[in-house]
Amino acid sequence: MAENTPSWWKTGTCYQIWPASYKDSNNDGVGDIPGVISTLDYLKDLGVDIIWLSPMYDSPQKDYGYDISDYQAIYPPFGTMNDMDELIKQCHTRGLRLILDLVINHTSDQHKWFQESKQSRTNPKADWYIWKDPKIINGEHHPPNNWRAIFGGSAWEWVEERQQYYLHLFVKEQPDLNWELEQVRRAIYKEAIEYWLDRGIDGFRVDTCNLYSKDTTFPDATILLPDEQYQPAFKHFENGPRMHEWLQEKRKLSLSKYGDILMVGECPGSDRETVLSYVSAARNELSCILDFDVVDLGTNRATGGKKHQTYRHQLPEFKLALAKTQDLIRTTDAWGTVFLENHDQGRSISRFATHVPQYREAAAKMLALCITALTGTLFIYQGQEIGMYNHSEEWTITDLRDIDSINAYRDVEQRYNNDPVWNAKAMRGLAAVGRDNARLPVQWSAEPNAGFTGKNAKPWIRVHDDYENVNVAEQLGRDDSPLAFWKRMLKVRRKYQRLMVLGDFEMHDLYEQDTFTFVKRVKGAVTDGNGDGAAMQNGHTEHTEESKAKIEPEILVTCNFSDRINPVDFPARMAGRKRELLVSSLDEEGAGKYLRAWEGRIYLVT
Ligand code: NOJ
Repeated sequence: MAENTPSWWKTGTCYQIWPASYKDSNNDGVGDIPGVISTLDYLKDLGVDIIWLSPMYDSPQKDYGYDISDYQAIYPPFGTMNDMDELIKQCHTRGLRLILDLVINHTSDQHKWFQESKQSRTNPKADWYIWKDPKIINGEHHPPNNWRAIFGGSAWEWVEERQQYYLHLFVKEQPDLNWELEQVRRAIYKEAIEYWLDRGIDGFRVDTCNLYSKDTTFPDATILLPDEQYQPAFKHFENGPRMHEWLQEKRKLSLSKYGDILMVGECPGSDRETVLSYVSAARNELSCILDFDVVDLGTNRATGGKKHQTYRHQLPEFKLALAKTQDLIRTTDAWGTVFLENHDQGRSISRFATHVPQYREAAAKMLALCITALTGTLFIYQGQEIGMYNHSEEWTITDLRDIDSINAYRDVEQRYNNDPVWNAKAMRGLAAVGRDNARLPVQWSAEPNAGFTGKNAKPWIRVHDDYENVNVAEQLGRDDSPLAFWKRMLKVRRKYQRLMVLGDFEMHDLYEQDTFTFVKRVKGAVTDGNGDGAAMQNGHTEHTEESKAKIEPEILVTCNFSDRINPVDFPARMAGRKRELLVSSLDEEGAGKYLRAWEGRIYLVT
């Protein structure tokens, strides 16, 4: 690699596949690995470079694969180890990279390690999970502290055999591993990490990578929800004291053998300094992280993110959340990511734009333009390329499958005595941010079951009502479709890589409620005016000899997040420079003086 060539995982675009809902090859109603293989040419043609496959490991599926019972076996409905080897091969033949999900904060309670651990306090794996004695109150056992599990209820579960509780930050079938024990860490490196790197994969998306290290005094959490028994305890288990030590150890003992792999960590709830501490290249911990500020918008994370208390954010909040990821690389050796969707979120056009029929496609294209112009490794989620959107508020809880959503709904139902108005409110929250929105089958065609599975098969989860209008086959036949626009934008992103993928970001209109306008310039370049990239002295812009000689081209990206027309607003410092319209998300011919409803544009300013 030439000294200045950025790593493949910086410039590549990554497409996330959540296997159960992606493509079913054998008509059992569940997506599978052969189904993934059958679409690789489609993905290559779309212009992606990396595939992230969500968990395909053997699992009882209590949390749809994030509860792994065997790191070295495949969940049978998804296929076989031969299918996985074939997938790795077929990706590489096409020049695509493949990364897997690395879920090592916890295992399934069916994993052989836990099965052994729970049997007694003295077995060889007795300390492989986090066991604590109960609090005894009036002769009865109670959890050792008041921590609330992320999916609701106590974070502790009682086991008769040991007369102890074990910790589970997610559902009770996902016991947390005891990372404090070196033996456990070594077993994870060998069984979950090296096994797959040896089979040829190119890296991992690291699940909840900032939760391994807990406050080992396990104090009660502060009461944030006075009406509730269990309290959000993030501060006691997020970004704990030994995180850096273990991430560095993992690199040294395990990953360093495998060259330039991608380790992208899921890292919710972290401020800029914390994020930087994980992704600074000098620290050699993670390649980059998925920062959740954008996808957490409209939810109240600090109090446990109750789904029925979801609200519609304001556009400036959206801009600030994205700016956090953009500013991360400014004057640092860090790297970042850009994404609006994954398997845990509502669909982006519903959350951040609109899915009303009149503007749905315009909004999908505008969001595509907006995020393909941002710096960092770009992540797209299955179906985002065709503008799949959230399910209706009219769906009922029986249509949903996600444990987090079901727990959230049942909690409201119970708390308010099955009051229909409260229940409807809970459903509205789930229709906005519930995880099932992203888990509905990919809409491949207008055939019954959206072409996801056979016509007579029964998909494991309900298909979106609008699949006849929103599907891949229809969009492949149309030049003005969201799919065609995504393809175009991924080409533009490649062509203007120095600006779009690697460049510095400058916010232009933070407080505007309708538009989001920003400038991208070559990393570290000075501007010809008062932009914040310019060298300033005593309040005046200092023009170096170099900057006087050559002003680097910049792009101005402007997006209309409303159905009103809006003016195009260039920073004053760009006056007198040449502006060329590179792309309009609607059409270049019709792009007059004003932005049309839900239109996005990119201008090249030279
Ligand atoms: C984050 C994953 O993205 C989510 O789907 C899962 O439920 C939790 N981690 C627990 O593994």
